[in-house]
Amino acid sequence: MSAETPARGWVDTHLHLLPGVDDGPAAADEAAALLEAVIAAGTTQAVATPHANYQFQFDRDASQALLRRLQEGAGERLRLYLGCELHLSYENVQRAAEAPRQFSLNGGRYLLVEFPELFERGALGAALQRLCDAGAVPVLAHPERNPVFQQHPEALDDYIRLGCVAQLTASSFTGRFGKRAQQLSAALLQGERAHIVASDGHSAQQRAPHFHKAAAVIEELAGEARVRALCSDNPLAMIEDRPLPYYPELANKKRGFLARLRG
Ligand SMILES: [Fe+2]
Repeated sequence: MSAETPARGWVDTHLHLLPGVDDGPAAADEAAALLEAVIAAGTTQAVATPHANYQFQFDRDASQALLRRLQEGAGERLRLYLGCELHLSYENVQRAAEAPRQFSLNGGRYLLVEFPELFERGALGAALQRLCDAGAVPVLAHPERNPVFQQHPEALDDYIRLGCVAQLTASSFTGRFGKRAQQLSAALLQGERAHIVASDGHSAQQRAPHFHKAAAVIEELAGEARVRALCSDNPLAMIEDRPLPYYPELANKKRGFLARLRG
């Protein structure tokens, strides 16, 4: 695989594609441009995940209608599904614990959640436990970009033990979010604590929905099978509401990943 050659068959479970609902495309023409960029990058299935936070409300029915229009434009080239990126606010956790499948990826068990930039580890652990008790599998969006995980990567183990899944942003591997995010993404990958890679694409130009450069880094660090697991097989299982084919147990896992970060 070459960093210059997009392969086909990426499955993207984090994409701000819908027009006018969040900080993704402002209008239909920008959404259409992003859609074409997603297809050109070799992605064949994608979940639109608008923000659900204090700034942006998530309306599942209205989002579904916007998605239908985009699916018509994509035709057979790309299959689209709906989810959201649920900010872990008190109110959101209450609502999602009542009806997790109103917010989850394609209505299945997997629920994409976003941490506040700074958070109290115990309180967020309790919130995640609550979502697990409600039958959801929280998918933790980009822990490698969060300052708390950057300082305390061992916090992630607590959440993985609850049954959470770690979703890393593709461009973190290539340095788009700085050195610390890049180092932590490599360490999580090699420590077998990275379960999914997604684009978190917001527009055709800014934060473009590309996988191939990250895939080249992942292949170099962990081999080609891991690229398939993280960028295709695991995300597809999430869309189809199946157990993840790649989900190594934390027990017996290489413990060196923290030392590697601090070394
Ligand atoms: Fe996002």
